[in-house]
Amino acid sequence: MTSSLSITSATADPALLDLPWQLPLDLWPDQYIAALPKGISRHLVRFAHLSGHVVAVKETTDEMAKREYEMLRTLQRLDVPCVDPLAVITNRTDAEGEELRSVLVTRHLKFSLPYRALFSQQLRPDTATRLVDALALLLVRLHISGFFWGDVSLSNTLFRRDAGAFAAYLVDAETGQLFEGGLSNGQRENDLEIARVNIAGELMDLEAGGRADEDLDPVTVSNGIVAAYRSLWKELTGAESFNSSERWRINERVDRLNDLGFDIEELAIKTTEDGTTVRIQPKVVDAGHHQRRLLRLTGLDAQENQARRLLNDLDSYSAKYGRKEFDEEMVAHEWLARVFEPVIRSIPRELRGKLEPAEVFHQLLDHRWYMSQDQNRDVPLAEALSSYIDTVLRHRRDEATVIDPPTGAITMAIPIVDAPDEDWRLKV
Ligand SMILES: Nc1ncnc2c1ncn2[C@@H]1O[C@H](COP(=O)(O)OP(=O)(O)O)[C@@H](O)[C@H]1O
Ligand SMILES: [Mg+2]
Repeated sequence: MTSSLSITSATADPALLDLPWQLPLDLWPDQYIAALPKGISRHLVRFAHLSGHVVAVKETTDEMAKREYEMLRTLQRLDVPCVDPLAVITNRTDAEGEELRSVLVTRHLKFSLPYRALFSQQLRPDTATRLVDALALLLVRLHISGFFWGDVSLSNTLFRRDAGAFAAYLVDAETGQLFEGGLSNGQRENDLEIARVNIAGELMDLEAGGRADEDLDPVTVSNGIVAAYRSLWKELTGAESFNSSERWRINERVDRLNDLGFDIEELAIKTTEDGTTVRIQPKVVDAGHHQRRLLRLTGLDAQENQARRLLNDLDSYSAKYGRKEFDEEMVAHEWLARVFEPVIRSIPRELRGKLEPAEVFHQLLDHRWYMSQDQNRDVPLAEALSSYIDTVLRHRRDEATVIDPPTGAITMAIPIVDAPDEDWRLKV
């Protein structure tokens, strides 16, 4: 019998044909499967090896797989942080010719973790707040792009460490809808309410399972998303009026947005007829202010807060070595070659899967700070580095590819070092 397997993919990887599509996903042999932590889901999702990478395979219906694939592609084009869709596979049949479910294949998002795998024993209130803040920022970005999510939750989000904070990525776009003309306030409120209720439920589940710190209040934390969302939304989109003698307030608004990690692509400025009042309103904002500057100067691709941290180090390098009057690009090149790259090269090969380079650098800077405080002297970077490698990095679990329980419906606790700000404290 000839199989009429059908693969839709923008970046056709022939290795896709090597996966055992004629078997139901739950029967795939171990050799194909990558054991990585996974969030709670409706469908069966498993991770598989494909050409040296890992992909997530979700068994679902034909329409759902196609729809989610297209939606994720659109979101990628809109530059919203989300998982990268790779293929849709339909017309699957087993050896007996029985129909099998269609699948959506996405690339496994490297260094990302589902929220339940981000903490070891119990979720602490401050970590929960950081997760919720990251999700609020993601939701604002989605809404600015006209995307109504419909199922906002911690389980439908992946998190990457971002210099003490987290960066959130959308993983499940199944319920999403894109509105060309943007979202109404009602639609945004609707999503926000879904987020609040889902997060409260997820945190209560943790509580019931003994996995939440006793100081964590699910209601307070889940209400936090509403507050974080609203203040961000206001800052990013709100209109502001002032007397025309206070024109500096335009620059101030731009600076505030830059600090939040956004660039203004378009700003509407209106004056009243008599010219006494000025009204400004950001029209198009673009996330990634520090990311872009870092990329432009050094070619490094980092998360927003990591980029901020690296740029700070670059600025202090420039101040320390009297490079202020030099060309910015030149100093950046020097810093990269003399500071950043030597650090990353010194990380023993077997430890490189533990954390992203930019995160390692951020943690190293913190480590040096703690050491210096402790010993009341300026600890040189090289000295801090060997201490960091031996006392911190070596003891971390790999985050590029976490090897733990065999896949299945796993939502397990894996032994991990807890929230970032604790990890690098010196164990004296
Ligand atoms: N590309 C991916 N990278 C990393 N993890 C993924 C990826 N796709 C799915 N997952 C994991 O699988 C889980 C379930 O995926 P999801 O799309 O939410 O399925 P469902 O539609 O059944 O809810 C997610 O919470 C996440 O942990
Ligand atoms: Mg889901």
